[in-house]
Amino acid sequence: MKSRILYIVLIASMLLGLAACGGGGGGSKKTYTYKDMVVGFIQTGSEGGWRAANTASFKETAEQLGINLKFYDAQNKLENQLSAFRNFIADKEVNVIILAALETTGWEDVLKEAQKAGKVVVLEDRRIDAPEDLYATYIGSDFAEEGRKSADEMCKLLEGSASKNVVELVGNVGSSAAKDRGQGFREKMGACGINIVKSQTANWDATEGKAVMEAWLKETTDIQGVFAQNDEMGLGAAQAIKEAGLDPGDDIKILTVDATAGAFKAMVAGDINTVVECNPLLAPQVYEAALKVLNGQEVPKWIPSQEGVFYAKDAETILPTRKY
Ligand code: AHR
Repeated sequence: MKSRILYIVLIASMLLGLAACGGGGGGSKKTYTYKDMVVGFIQTGSEGGWRAANTASFKETAEQLGINLKFYDAQNKLENQLSAFRNFIADKEVNVIILAALETTGWEDVLKEAQKAGKVVVLEDRRIDAPEDLYATYIGSDFAEEGRKSADEMCKLLEGSASKNVVELVGNVGSSAAKDRGQGFREKMGACGINIVKSQTANWDATEGKAVMEAWLKETTDIQGVFAQNDEMGLGAAQAIKEAGLDPGDDIKILTVDATAGAFKAMVAGDINTVVECNPLLAPQVYEAALKVLNGQEVPKWIPSQEGVFYAKDAETILPTRKY
């Protein structure tokens, strides 16, 4: 009888030991390193300097860390992003899917499919409207805060101006970047009496920005400020203002978002007044978070990037230090 009890105690403690080190599955858990990560990355497209820097950040960091990166450029088409998502779900090698979403909506089905297939999904750059339990984390900017900063800065630029008529060049309208920057700007613009007299998309693009600004200037020149939701559209607007015989940065103040080298050069030339930074160098944070999730660690649902504001008076000094 005594030996029977001893035998039962022995078996029970062996089972408990196995459960403690094997997560209940009976074997030891794998510890992932960067070299075990196979990432399916779904980029929006290649619409400008910010995006080029964002893509380079992911490619270069993957190489440095030994991550196997399968990169897909969706050419700014939502249907391409969705089919790439499904391809990465079906790809047995891929254990992490990183998405820079073109639109905030339309993701729930693929996210559920990814969850079912056991893929870790990390959102980079753009937030989406979907239940938080369907993705691991979002790493990117506080776009609404960028909009609020933009309004504060535009107020400074237009201080003392009798009229404060501002035109807004919007990014691609379904994106979180465009929606939240626009909303943030509106939250703060009333503080100094800014009126948004025109607002239209130019899809983050310089040529479109120029065309939209040209059309507006044909209707009225009673415009004191341009709020361009990215540098490219602001550069296009500056060109249109020059061609209309006015002085960008002086007759019409220009504020842009991103802080690429192109915008710094335009600040040095006096064409752009102020730039609100949006940081594209997100890869180290994103890969680190994905690795943690693969290893079963908790990560916050949103990891915001640190960003500043730059002024024309400092542009010449800062320009040589810009990485993008
Ligand atoms: O999501 C970030 C935005 O996307 C950048 O401001 C814009 O230039 C880019 O295309």
